[in-house]
Amino acid sequence: MGDKHPDAVQIEAADSTYVMRPWTHPAGEPVIVAKARGCTVTDVHGKDYLDLTAGYFVNNAGHCHPRIVEAATKQMGEVLQVSGKHGTIAAVRLAERLVKLAPPSVNKVFFSTGGSEANEFALKAARQFTKKPDVAYLQNGYHGLSIGSLEVTASEKYRESAGKPMGSENYAVPTAYCYRCKFGPASTCKVECLDGLEAQFQARPNTAAVIAEPVQAVGGLAPPQKWWDRMDRTRKAHGILLIADEVQTGLGRTGKMFAVEHYGLQPEIMTGGKGLSGGVGSLAMTAASNAICKEFFGGTTPTSGGNAVSAAAGLALIETIIDEALVENAAKMGRYFTEAAWAIDDPWVGDVRFTGLLGGIELVKDRTSREVLGKTEVGKVKDGLHAAGMLITVSGWHGNVLRLQPPLSITSNQIDQFIAALQKTLAAVRAG
Ligand SMILES: Cc1ncc(COP(=O)(O)O)c(C=O)c1O
Repeated sequence: MGDKHPDAVQIEAADSTYVMRPWTHPAGEPVIVAKARGCTVTDVHGKDYLDLTAGYFVNNAGHCHPRIVEAATKQMGEVLQVSGKHGTIAAVRLAERLVKLAPPSVNKVFFSTGGSEANEFALKAARQFTKKPDVAYLQNGYHGLSIGSLEVTASEKYRESAGKPMGSENYAVPTAYCYRCKFGPASTCKVECLDGLEAQFQARPNTAAVIAEPVQAVGGLAPPQKWWDRMDRTRKAHGILLIADEVQTGLGRTGKMFAVEHYGLQPEIMTGGKGLSGGVGSLAMTAASNAICKEFFGGTTPTSGGNAVSAAAGLALIETIIDEALVENAAKMGRYFTEAAWAIDDPWVGDVRFTGLLGGIELVKDRTSREVLGKTEVGKVKDGLHAAGMLITVSGWHGNVLRLQPPLSITSNQIDQFIAALQKTLAAVRAG
C-alpha cells in the first residue's frame, strides 16, 4: 500500500464531473493513478495494482524506468519541440536506431503522434505509391480510432462510432482464429480460411495494400507460419503492399523486437507507436521502403510528430530493452505464463495464447463445446481480479478474453501472484 492522497475523494469526483470518457466504466474504474513504478501502479487511495496492461501496452520497460526518466529530463534542458520541417538530434538518432532494428524492407521513418495517425500516413503512402484506393484489412483487426484508421478496423462497434458510413474502398479478408476454426483441428490445417483470398484480390484490382497486425492484439491471435506464408505470397502476386501494424506488437512485446521477425515478413510499410515514446508524451512512426518514401508527400506534417522529449525517451527505452534483455525476458515469461495458466486446470479456461508477453486467456462455459463465457461472468472475473489488485482489460472477438500484456520486465513471482488471484476468482465467480 502506498500513501492515500489527501484529496483522493475530491479528485475522483472531479474526474467524473469534468473528464469525458468514451465508455461507461465498470465498478472500481477508472483507477486514478498517483504513482507508478515497474509493474505496479498505485491509485489515489494508496491501493497497489499489478499492472498487466503496462499502462495500455506502452511501458514496455516498466513504469518510470530511471533511465527513461533521466533521458527525458536531460532532453528537457536542451530542446523540447521544433517544427516538423526541421529536426532534433534525438529524433534523428531514434529514426536511425529504428531503421537499423527494423526489417531491411523499410528504410526511413516518418514521425507522428499516435498509432492511429501513423496508420493514416501508412494508408496515404500506400495509396500515393500505388495510385490505387482500396485497402484490405483483417477481420478482428484494430488499427485506431481516427476516421481513416477506423475504416480499416474490423469491429462494427468501433466503426459505428465514426457517425458516418464507412468507405466502400476498404474490405475485410479472413483472419486466423485457430481456436475457433471451422475447418478442423490444427493438425490437418491447410489454411482453408484463406481459400477465398485469391478471388477477393482478383475482384478488387484496385487494392493498394493489406494492413495487418502480425499477431492480432485483440484476443492474442497469432496465425501459424503457413497462414502468413500464403497471405504474403498471394498479396505479392497481386502487387499489393503489406502494411504491418506493429503499434502494439513492436519493441519486444512478442519476444522479438518486431513481430514480423517471427514470420520472416518484409513489409513495404510498417507502423509503430505505444511504447515508442517510452511512456513520455506520445510518439508514433510510419516506416517505409525508399521507393515509397520517394513518392510520399504528407501535404502537411503533424505539429508535434517526433517531439524531442518523447524521442529521447524512446531511444532510452530501446537501449534499456537491449541492455536488460527484455525481448528475451518477454519470450521466457510468455512461456512461463502459458504453463502457469494451463496449470490452473479450471473448466472456464478454454485457451491460453501467448506470443511473448502479448497474451490472452479465452474464457468458455465448457472446454469441449467451447461456448463463449457470458458477459456477466466475464465481467465478474474482471471485477474480482480488480479487487485483488490486478489491473487487466478484457477483449477478443466475443469479448471473453482476459488480455495480459504486462511490462516486459515482469518476473515469475509477479506472474504467480496473478495466477493465484485468477484461480481464486474463477472459483469464486463460478460458486456464485
Ligand atoms: C494495433 C494497433 N494499431 C493502432 C492503434 C492506435 O494507436 P493510438 O491509440 O496511439 O492512436 C492501436 C491502439 O491500441 C493498436 O493496438
